[in-house]
Amino acid sequence: MCSSATWQALKGRAERVAGERLTINRQRNTEITARMTRMGPLEKESKESEEHYRAIFSKIPVPVFVLDRKSLRILDCNEAVQDVYGYGREEILHSSFLILFETAEHQNYALEIRTSDTLNHARQVTKDCRSIFVNIRVSPHEYLGRQALLVAASDVIRPLMVKHQLIQASKMATLGEMATGVAHELNQPLSVIKTASSFLVNRFGKGEKPRESVLKAMIEEIDSHVDRATGIVRHLREFGRKSEAKKEQVQVNVVLQRALDLFSQQLKLRNIEVLCELEESLPLIMADGNRLEQVFINLLINARDAIEQKRDKFGHADMEERIFVKTSARLGKIKIEIKDTGVGIPEDLLDRIFEPFFTTKKTGKGTGLGLSISYGIVQDNDGTIEVQTVESEGATFIIQFPVMVNVDGGENTSC
Ligand SMILES: Nc1ncnc2c1ncn2[C@@H]1O[C@H](COP(=O)(O)OP(=O)(O)OP(=O)(O)O)[C@@H](O)[C@H]1O
Ligand SMILES: [Mg+2]
Repeated sequence: MCSSATWQALKGRAERVAGERLTINRQRNTEITARMTRMGPLEKESKESEEHYRAIFSKIPVPVFVLDRKSLRILDCNEAVQDVYGYGREEILHSSFLILFETAEHQNYALEIRTSDTLNHARQVTKDCRSIFVNIRVSPHEYLGRQALLVAASDVIRPLMVKHQLIQASKMATLGEMATGVAHELNQPLSVIKTASSFLVNRFGKGEKPRESVLKAMIEEIDSHVDRATGIVRHLREFGRKSEAKKEQVQVNVVLQRALDLFSQQLKLRNIEVLCELEESLPLIMADGNRLEQVFINLLINARDAIEQKRDKFGHADMEERIFVKTSARLGKIKIEIKDTGVGIPEDLLDRIFEPFFTTKKTGKGTGLGLSISYGIVQDNDGTIEVQTVESEGATFIIQFPVMVNVDGGENTSC
């Protein structure tokens, strides 16, 4: 048994130990709390930083993919993928990156993606089966402990700046192309004006006054030819103007007629006949008229070149040298056909002609931009462009646009 003194001593020690333990526990708790409060912001920071980078990754304006290096399966991708390829993130995750290429080209591209860091002008296919041309950059990376590839695809036709510049550059080249025809076209009203003014100068120089009716007829002739020359210059300026893409109500027959006005002189000079069959009361479409004119001129220039190539190959005799231009409307769409009797397109080149910079023309003659730019313009205006051809017999380019729908849901057939 303990004596009272011993008991007191024991109790005192127990209380001291308990007190010390309490202090230690308190200290420990304070430390833990401090550590927790210290760790809190760090974890928060790291979480915030992860979210921040995730947001940046999602919003990068070009498609970015994270691929498994071995299988090329898509482990992650950003929002631009949907804009460019049409696939939603959830839809495309875990699929092979190769689904974005033509099946026949899977093997080549699989090898290139694994071995190169840059693939220029790679042809890809979107969800709605459109071909697009992209520059691809590949860099090896670690992703959640796996060997991965970070792949950024920049659409070479889409970036607005580049696209506008290319459209403009191609337009300028077209104007250059047409210079001879236009000069000839301008020469006609100018020579009429010159003849009339020389006649008047001559008469007045001799002190003779022409009869009032003759004078009136001559002045009217001069006036109308000045208008014609002004019209040609205005048209050229409008065509050449750097325009922002804008959609308006467009009567395709009028745009085609304008393109032919600018170009038919050029064709006449080369003995190429143009036959038009434009459907009356063709429904309107919503499109950028200025750019459509550029598409039609590109197709007419190509038709002219194809006919001339055939002429160079087989000679001129008995050859039908014609361009047919036809419009029609059916099932809510309008159709424009531009057909030529030129060399045609060989089967093996058919799926390359819309590629940027693809040309079979001599150096200095073609840049290979006409069709790729036309393809982009038609697509921007919700249309489609396709080609039918028989080698050595000619080619037909077919463009279709949806008819403009009125607010009340009906088709617009005015104009
Ligand atoms: N009507 C056609 N008949 C035969 N081949 C054509 C026709 N249109 C285009 N092609 C072929 O498609 C290629 C690409 O055409 P595209 O208009 O893009 O370029 P280009 O005419 O060669 O050069 P650019 O238009 O830049 O002056 C041409 O080089 C030609 O081989
Ligand atoms: Mg061309």
